[in-house]
Formats: sequence, structure tokens, C-alpha cells
Amino acid sequence: MKIITFGTFDMFHIGHLNILERAKEQGDRLIVGVSSDALNFSKKSRNPICDEDARMRIVSALKCVDEVFLEESLALKAEYIQRHQADCLIMGDDWAGKFDHLADLCKVIYLPRTPAISTTQLIEVVKEIK
Ligand code: CTP
Repeated sequence: MKIITFGTFDMFHIGHLNILERAKEQGDRLIVGVSSDALNFSKKSRNPICDEDARMRIVSALKCVDEVFLEESLALKAEYIQRHQADCLIMGDDWAGKFDHLADLCKVIYLPRTPAISTTQLIEVVKEIK
């Protein structure tokens, strides 16, 4: 069973590792779409701290990840699922309900987020350090 998931994975943290490891447990092969710098800017109105090449290298170095590609548009999820012949889409539950329309292409599962950590929060914490 092929699993696909998506994310920015900027300033890679434990919440990212947890969801990728749990996603891999749901199948045999884990494919990760890493959001491009341009897509990230359009979603979050800021450039990521680590650029797309660095973020793709970090994610592809993980034991639980089998394949990485660059996600260039949120609107292309269906195409990415078909291109990679994914059987299951996994997203964190901050996206709950948002991808239910893809359930005719593959199974859609939302996993609970790791509490109390996010890239946005890490950036704020680092900014406060004097
Ligand atoms: N994620 C998670 N638990 C966290 C943070 C992220 O499970 N504490 C998951 C998200 O649900 C998503 C994936 O990790 O499926 C990539 O999320 P991303 O948006 O890159 O990370 P965030 O830390 O949420 O980034 P930001 O604060 O910029 O939104």
C-alpha cells in the first residue's frame, strides 16, 4: 500500500517526524510532497527559513520516507495522487475535512497533530531570544 502526504517541513521538528513515521506505519511505501518555496509563500505569506532543496534533502534522508517530490500547487493534489498511484492520503488533523473530496481517488486519513509545536511557533520563540 502506497501512502502519500504533503507539507512544508520547514525547520524540521518532532511534529513532522511523528506524522511521517505514523504515516509510514499505515502502509509499505511513503511518498512525500514537499511544498515549493513559491507555494509556501502563497500559503503563509512568508518565505520558508530553509529553502525547498534543503527541505527536500532533509525529508528524503529519513528512514521512513521512500520518495520525495516538489509540491508546486495545492490544486494539484488529485494529479499527484494519481501520478504516484497512491492508495492513501494522510494529512495532519489541522486539515480535517479539507481533502474529503479526494476519497474517490484514494483513502483519506487525518492523523492528530503533535501538540504544542509548529514551525510558526519555533520562529516566534527564536525571535524572542536576545
Ligand atoms: N504536523 C503535525 N504536528 C505538528 C506540526 C505539524 O502533525 N505539531 C504535521 C501537519 O499536520 C502536516 C505536516 O506535519 O501534515 C507538515 O506540516 P507543516 O505545515 O509543514 O508544519 P507546521 O509546523 O504546522 O508549520 P506552520 O507552523 O508553518 O504551519
